[in-house]
Amino acid sequence: MKKIRMNQAKDYVGQTVLIGAWVANKRSSGKIAFLQLRDGATYFQGIVVKSDVPEEVFEIAKSLTQETAVYVTGVVQEDTRSRLGYELLVTGLEVIGESHEYPITPKEHGTDFLMDHRHLWLRSSKQHAIMQIRNAIIYASYEFFDQNGFIKFDSPILSGNAAENTTELFETDYFGDPAFLSQSGQLYLEAGAMAFGPVFDFGPVFRAEKSKTRRHLTEFWMMDAEYPFVTHDESLDLQEAYVKALIQGVLDRSPHALETLERDVELLKKYVSEPFKRISYDEAIDLLQAHEADEDTDYEHLEHGDDFGSPHETWISNHFGVPTFVMNYPADIKAFYMKPVPGNESRVLCADLLAPEGYGEIIGGSEREVDYDKLYEKIKENGLNPDDYAFYLDLRKYGSVPHAGFGLGLERMVTFVAGTKHIREAIPFPRLLNRIFP
Ligand code: 4AD
Ligand code: MG
Repeated sequence: MKKIRMNQAKDYVGQTVLIGAWVANKRSSGKIAFLQLRDGATYFQGIVVKSDVPEEVFEIAKSLTQETAVYVTGVVQEDTRSRLGYELLVTGLEVIGESHEYPITPKEHGTDFLMDHRHLWLRSSKQHAIMQIRNAIIYASYEFFDQNGFIKFDSPILSGNAAENTTELFETDYFGDPAFLSQSGQLYLEAGAMAFGPVFDFGPVFRAEKSKTRRHLTEFWMMDAEYPFVTHDESLDLQEAYVKALIQGVLDRSPHALETLERDVELLKKYVSEPFKRISYDEAIDLLQAHEADEDTDYEHLEHGDDFGSPHETWISNHFGVPTFVMNYPADIKAFYMKPVPGNESRVLCADLLAPEGYGEIIGGSEREVDYDKLYEKIKENGLNPDDYAFYLDLRKYGSVPHAGFGLGLERMVTFVAGTKHIREAIPFPRLLNRIFP
């Protein structure tokens, strides 16, 4: 007998197969038991008909408790009513791992309880669907970069300097010297771009964010891309194509997951087919202010120069109904490495991509300062020690060229595409201000 997983069912219709599975749920009457099974990859139904199986098999079926692990034998048959299209007519059952008083029952549980049981909560169909979307985005990301001539260039996690700012650094002891957990691979990636052309990295990054919001993690996965001989406008075109490829990748690979999550697929398709909006930071401030005059707003008043909060970002992207690039922020509220807008030193050549529907910033990107002296000054102005950035400054000494890049927060993207409310469900084991277990 062939041991299969249920996602191979179409090749085994009419055949007797063996599947290892857990019992997600069960309904039984005197004559028939319906087992809701999951084999990890797939949720499926097993039907046990009392009159068709040995008595002990039906007894086992009736006694199964939630999350008991079983080897189930049965005949694969088509089932047009189920989403999967197949079910298993059970002929044999063997319990291989008992499960008693599984804490997560089909009833509603509070968020703290579920977070405390994250290691088990991951087995539920909604969490399963979100992780499938995460997987589809990762897969589409590698595919996109490969097709566009980028190579993967891994940046270090332990670093001697700060990539973004010094207020959100996790510091650790490196044999007596301070070291920091990476906030972004960008600075190293710039070295990679000068050596290999278009490069990307993808890995965990860390921010000691004191913010307790539905958009912030202290450990998250970032994809940074960097390319030489590219201006910021050209970079925006690539970012737009990238985000569209990620959404399309999920539509293609994980339609069932989107269905489980009841995500509005028409909206996702619209984000793929319609052009993204591009406005400047100053235009965005004007729009926010003009809107304040019209009616009550749920955001605070901002002056030119102020940074946006979540409510402002939400309003801007909802206003356009498509992902929106907000460009050329004030230099004062952005990182030290960004190149000023020609003719306006107070603004920098950068953009944040704001997702619609209130999902916030998914990408931060910029054209980089390439002049050695200007970069040196910016480092000092930002209270950083130029010695810590010697390698980064070197890149401006030996064949410095225009270059740009961007970083996408994987969990922000997953939250947006999956349409979940809180970022904590977009990563297997979220690290939050108040949580490091499990
Ligand atoms: O905008 P950020 O800080 O940009 C950088 O780190 C650049 N060095 C990237 C680059 O140019 N290569 O972060 C990039 C993205 C944000 O747009 C957001 O999606 C995500 O990372 N992000 C977070 N995601 C979850 N939790 C947090 N605390 C995050 N902070 C940023
Ligand atoms: Mg940012």
